[in-house]
Amino acid sequence: MPQDTLTIIDNRTGKKYEIPISEGAMRATDLRQIKTSPDDFGLLSYDPSFNNTASCRSAITYIDGDKGILRYRGYPIEQLAEQSTFLEVAYLIVKGELPAKSHLKAFVSNITHHTIIHENIKKFIDGFHYDAHPMGILVSTVGALSTFYPDAKKIFDAESRKVQTHRLIAKMPTLAAFAYRHSIGMPYAYPDNDLSYTGNFLNMMFKKTELKYKPNPVLERALDVLFILHADHEQNCSTNAMRVVGSSQADPFSAVAAASAALYGPLHGGANEAVVRMLNEIGTVAAIPAYIERVKAGEVRLMGFGHRIYKNYDPRAKIIKRLADEVFAVTGKSELIDIAVELERIALQDDYFISHKLYPNVDFYSGIIYQAMDFPLDMYPVLFAIGRTPGWIAQWQEMLLDKEQRIARPRQLYIGAECRDYVPVAQRAEDAEGGAAANH
Ligand code: ACO
Repeated sequence: MPQDTLTIIDNRTGKKYEIPISEGAMRATDLRQIKTSPDDFGLLSYDPSFNNTASCRSAITYIDGDKGILRYRGYPIEQLAEQSTFLEVAYLIVKGELPAKSHLKAFVSNITHHTIIHENIKKFIDGFHYDAHPMGILVSTVGALSTFYPDAKKIFDAESRKVQTHRLIAKMPTLAAFAYRHSIGMPYAYPDNDLSYTGNFLNMMFKKTELKYKPNPVLERALDVLFILHADHEQNCSTNAMRVVGSSQADPFSAVAAASAALYGPLHGGANEAVVRMLNEIGTVAAIPAYIERVKAGEVRLMGFGHRIYKNYDPRAKIIKRLADEVFAVTGKSELIDIAVELERIALQDDYFISHKLYPNVDFYSGIIYQAMDFPLDMYPVLFAIGRTPGWIAQWQEMLLDKEQRIARPRQLYIGAECRDYVPVAQRAEDAEGGAAANH
């Protein structure tokens, strides 16, 4: 009769241990009983970058990376992208269920009426250099929001969490658009409550002298779908940052600032920007084979390819590829799409990419769409942050309400110097290594 346990024999001591297995996992703390002597700390698991460590139990997003499946709260991403809206998906992710009509109406109204930001925030934004990266501005200003809403510190008060949720989902696009307007020296365009969430965002980004901005419905819907596709992705780098910072009971604005900072890096939310830069660098379809050789030689990475979880085609990339055609029908075809399609075709036939299970991820085509919609390159990670906000909030809330979660605090394997006595500076040798270190 198979048992849901794992038998471990410690060959150092000959002792045998029965470790329970639950939900396909063993508890790492069960290893601590494995000791060589009573004063031994106990066995640790070593897992740099969390390759095989579940840090939480979560009911939000399900991914099967081998089969290319992504579901929010059980609903397939394909159905949500086809039939839902970003705010409905945000409700689903944060609250766990699709809303009844009246609840959706109230939620949309709440978000719509929280889009204005305090006038003082504009002063911070004004203080940034004219060419400041909008992601840097977003990270700073969303963190600064915590000082405007000290009630956000009441993280165990459900009503407070609800208000901060509305504020965050509502204000991220405003901060993002203001950051952009600052960078091009345009006056800020205030939110227009008559428009949809994405329609209003396009208004705040692109409104010029017209009295009323009218978003193109195809582009408005395309952006909505892109936000849906980015809304959550279980325990990715930025979500982990959100949970880790939130675990110290910091307010949600500070935690979202940390999550946004994690998203900023080129290996995560910065990848869509990096893809377009890469496609520009490649320049022509003819130059692709030489670029692939550079990737295989380990000189550069093929940006927009590969994923820690998906070892198959990222289901979001499939949806985005289709969306690209709808957008190009309005904006005209992007020059980069031919390079991207050919790059994908060659890569998917190449042994290196096949054997490493490297497929296009969500970022491979999203940047090309953003570019066609006239978003400047450095806004791409900012767009990702807007879409991911509901996911961060839901994961943060789940962490707070999970009785098993405490302040996040990994262990380490210490590999540094043994205990040694302090040497006064006058008695220290001027060795080359110390001198070099001092220069850093
Ligand atoms: N191009 C070329 N080779 C790659 C790529 C790539 N894009 N990605 C992974 N590899 C190779 C690595 O060189 C390594 O090869 P090796 O085993 O022969 O040394 C192997 O595949 C495994 O790579 P890791 O870096 O260990 O994989 P990891 O799971 O840590 O990385 C990541 C995942 C960061 C997404 C990686 O695939 C990557 O850098 N991709 C490009 C950046 C990108 O598109 N990021 C967006 C991710 S999706 C998102 O955040 C929304």
